[in-house]
Amino acid sequence: MNAGGTLLEVSDLTVTAAVMDRSLTLLHGVSLTVAPGEVVGLVGESGSGKTTLARSVLGLLESNITIAGGSISLRGEEIVSPAADRTVSIRGKHAGMVFQDASRSLNPLFTVRSQLAEVLRRHVPGIGKDQIAARSAQVLERMRIADTGRVLDSYPHQLSGGLRQRVAIGLAVVTEPALVVADECTTALDVTTQAEVVVLLRSLAADLGVGLLFVTHDLMLASDLCDRIAVMYQGEIVELGAVDTVLLHPEVDYTKRLLAAVPQWNGATSPHA
Ligand SMILES: Nc1ncnc2c1ncn2[C@@H]1O[C@H](COP(=O)(O)OP(=O)(O)OP(=O)(O)O)[C@@H](O)[C@H]1O
Ligand SMILES: [Mg+2]
Repeated sequence: MNAGGTLLEVSDLTVTAAVMDRSLTLLHGVSLTVAPGEVVGLVGESGSGKTTLARSVLGLLESNITIAGGSISLRGEEIVSPAADRTVSIRGKHAGMVFQDASRSLNPLFTVRSQLAEVLRRHVPGIGKDQIAARSAQVLERMRIADTGRVLDSYPHQLSGGLRQRVAIGLAVVTEPALVVADECTTALDVTTQAEVVVLLRSLAADLGVGLLFVTHDLMLASDLCDRIAVMYQGEIVELGAVDTVLLHPEVDYTKRLLAAVPQWNGATSPHA
């Protein structure tokens, strides 16, 4: 049923948006896979369709958006297709989403403890109080948060930006989803905190076998974190391959132009060096 160990399979996906009396095509026949434990980067200029693809995967589409063709499957099971009345939301149980802004993931009115408990109760039927406490503390430790007691009792505004984003990732993964979709989740952070979050995300993939779809406009960051990279341009994936192949030996002119626009980029050395 799950041929080749694919976790996520996006096949020939076409997505349209109704704007006034017109239909705009936002994604044109996009195909992409993510294997368990694999980090796949989605890069490309603003407006190229990265967020639209990320949201399609999670069934989080705005009301004027239509899946016009193709399909998305998770572990061989179709979750998104034109035939489906409305896409099945896999968010929570099977997939976690981390947004650019932690305030989109976290509710300002509740403590970290009660938000983790709420997610666990919703997605893990029959989970008990002790288990909730244990898994909440555990996930924060996994996020390399030292003072878990204090953080659990905090409201989001009482935490620093970096800590908030780590809590947001914790909230996305506390249910142990197989897939995590992160959309520009490090963009608002300073460089040091960015690096910490990247290490965390890497360890989710390496240690827990989570498949990660990592949306970023930052090619340097993508080169650090990703196994494979998909380059999007005007709603299409124009280049897709191993990170070193795509970034060191790009075939498509658009990818070459993207790389040329990164001032620190030195194509002569490995991006991992
Ligand atoms: N609900 C919508 N209705 C109409 N057009 C939309 C809608 N959502 C997105 N778009 C359009 O689809 C295109 C792709 O947008 P998307 O947000 O996916 O790009 P992106 O690659 O994530 O860009 P960014 O890097 O700025 O986040 C853009 O032209 C955008 O204006
Ligand atoms: Mg976006």
